[in-house]
Amino acid sequence: MSLRSVIVNQFKQPHGILGHVAGFIMAQRPSNRERNKWTVNLLALEPHHEILEIGCGPGLALKECTKTVTTGRVIGIDYSNVMVGQAQRRLSPEIKKGNTEVRLACLDQLTRELSGFDRVFSLNVVQFFPDLEEAFKQIYACLDINGMAATTFQPRTKNPTREQAISMALKIHAAMSNAGFTDIRDHELPLKPAPAICVTGKKH
Ligand SMILES: C[S@@+](CC[C@H](N)C(=O)[O-])C[C@H]1O[C@@H](n2cnc3c(N)ncnc32)[C@H](O)[C@@H]1O
Repeated sequence: MSLRSVIVNQFKQPHGILGHVAGFIMAQRPSNRERNKWTVNLLALEPHHEILEIGCGPGLALKECTKTVTTGRVIGIDYSNVMVGQAQRRLSPEIKKGNTEVRLACLDQLTRELSGFDRVFSLNVVQFFPDLEEAFKQIYACLDINGMAATTFQPRTKNPTREQAISMALKIHAAMSNAGFTDIRDHELPLKPAPAICVTGKKH
């Protein structure tokens, strides 16, 4: 395996010492921080909302959500125990207050264990979903009526381009439409070297 694929795998499921390094990079990289804040802003959160983030990594977006969601519930899931540990440390004051939780769980557990959310979102996780169509059906099922999903993607290949971001947005769009989402919209954040695109959709 090349060094590049070893590193890319760390972002797919961080583990061991390199996983800790990957989490540190995610938490510090300026474009990552900006993309997390921007996505949370698109969620139009209210204090009573019930929020779920899939693949929360080191927990930047969850932290941002807790600034607004004071009476509701903020839950992050990730299937990497290294990331769950980092996010739990970052959110330790909010977890102690009782309305924030970070769980070791994977997308497949959504509808079985987690449902009734006002917002379900992810950032740079969609490219790892094994089955896009199935993933958005699960996300749709765990949302409440009037709930909203947001999926952000910023290409992180060797030479990332806007076209790669748009191509993923089209696939997300199609999978969301197929799952039953309406009012599907694309939002773009100009970043270097390639923009982030967030696709939002509602359940009516
Ligand atoms: C590239 S990182 C992004 C982390 C964070 N969302 C961010 O933007 O800072 C992808 C994260 O998604 C997690 N992940 C990937 N597929 C997942 C799945 N099916 N279920 C749960 N977590 C998943 C990985 O463990 C990793 O922490």
